[in-house]
Amino acid sequence: MELSKRITHLTAGGSDGWDVFYRARAMIDAGEAVTELTIGEHDIRTHPSILQAMHASAIGGHTGYAMVPGVASLRDTVAARVQAQSGVKTTRDNVLIMPGGQAALFGAHHAVCNEGDTALFIDPYYATYPGTIRSVGAVPKPVLAHASDAFQPRPADLEAAAPGATSLLINSPNNPTGVVYGRDVLDGIAGVCLRHDLWLISDEVYDTQIWEGAHLSPRALPGMAERTLVVGSMSKSHAMTGSRCGWLVGPEQAISHLINLATHTTYGVAGFIQDAAEFALKEGPELEAEVAAPFRRRRDLAQQILDGQNIVGQIPSQGAMYLMLDIRATGMTGEEFANALLDAHRIAVMPGESFGRAAAGHIRVAMTILDDNFATALRSLCTFAGTLAG
Ligand SMILES: Cc1ncc(COP(=O)(O)O)c(C=O)c1O
Repeated sequence: MELSKRITHLTAGGSDGWDVFYRARAMIDAGEAVTELTIGEHDIRTHPSILQAMHASAIGGHTGYAMVPGVASLRDTVAARVQAQSGVKTTRDNVLIMPGGQAALFGAHHAVCNEGDTALFIDPYYATYPGTIRSVGAVPKPVLAHASDAFQPRPADLEAAAPGATSLLINSPNNPTGVVYGRDVLDGIAGVCLRHDLWLISDEVYDTQIWEGAHLSPRALPGMAERTLVVGSMSKSHAMTGSRCGWLVGPEQAISHLINLATHTTYGVAGFIQDAAEFALKEGPELEAEVAAPFRRRRDLAQQILDGQNIVGQIPSQGAMYLMLDIRATGMTGEEFANALLDAHRIAVMPGESFGRAAAGHIRVAMTILDDNFATALRSLCTFAGTLAG
C-alpha cells in the first residue's frame, strides 16, 4: 500500500548530520562513558512544587477531557504574561494551549500555508523546521544567516527571498546559535513581512533564557500583531519538556480556526498538566531564573575557557542553552570534528551541519551537564582542536 507523499517526504532523507548523535547513543548503550553535549534538555528535572501541583490536580479529578482550547485560567495566565512582556493587548481569545512548542509550530504553519506555498525559515535552524513545513504540504525555503554576521539574519536577504512566499519562521533566542536578534534586525524582519504580506511565525520558546540584551517579541512591533503567531512553551522555561505543554498566541480569528484543528487532532492537553503549568507560571520570574541559572553560569564559564585560547572561535551566546563554536581552524567540517572528538575523547557534540548549510564548520555544544564536567569537556575540546590545528 502506498503512503502519502506528505508523510514519506516529511524528512528530506539522506545523512542529516545526526549520525554522530546516534553513534554516541550506541556507545552509551554498549556501556561506554560518553560526555553528551548534544540534546537541548536540562540536567535538572521539573521542580517538585510543580509536580505537587500536577499531582493535586490529578487526584482532585482533573483527568477527564480538558477544554480543547485550554483551561480558561491557563489561557488567561499565558495572555497576562505575554501582555506584560510585550505590551500588546492579549486575552484568552488570542491563546491556544497545545501539546508543546512543536505542536504549535505545526499548527501555525497549518493555519497560514496552503498546499505548495513557500514558507521561509532562517538557516541555521532548529532541526524540525523543514519537516514541520513539509508536513503541512508547504515548501521550506531557507534564508541563510552568516557566521560573519554572528548569525543575525540580513533583512536584505529576506527581502530578496520574500516575493511569492507566505510565511517566515524566526527563532530568537536561537537554537542552535544562541543568538538573540537585535531591535534593528527585528525591525528589518517586520518591514519585510509588512511589504510582502507575510505571516511571521515567531518561535520564542527560549524567551526566559537571555544572557545579553533583552527579549523582544516581534508581535509588539507596529502592524505586526495581526500577522504574527508566537510559539511558546513550558519545556525550556520550566524544565517541563516531558509534560508537552505549549501555546500559540495570535490574532483571534486565527486562534478560533486553530481551535478547530485541535478539536480534530490532539483534542487538547491533559488538565492536570495545564494546572501544573498555570501553577508554574504564577510562581513568576524567580522560578524561571532558577531554571535558567545553570546555563547562565556555564555560559560564563565557557567564555573564560574560550577566551584563554585562539583556535576555537565563538559566536557569543546571548541566550538559550547552547554554544555555537567555530572549528574551521582545524581544517575539518563540523561533522568530521564531532566524529573525531567522539572517537578521541568520548565527547559528543552536534555538527553545525545538522542545523543547515550556514553552520558548516561549526559545532553546537549544549550546556546541559554539571558545571565541572562541562568545563572539563570544553577544555578537552579546545585542546583537541589545538592539536588538530597544529
Ligand atoms: C527552537 C525550538 N523550538 C521548539 C522546540 C520544541 O519544544 P517543545 O515542543 O518541547 O515545546 C524546541 C525544542 O528543542 C526548540 O529548540
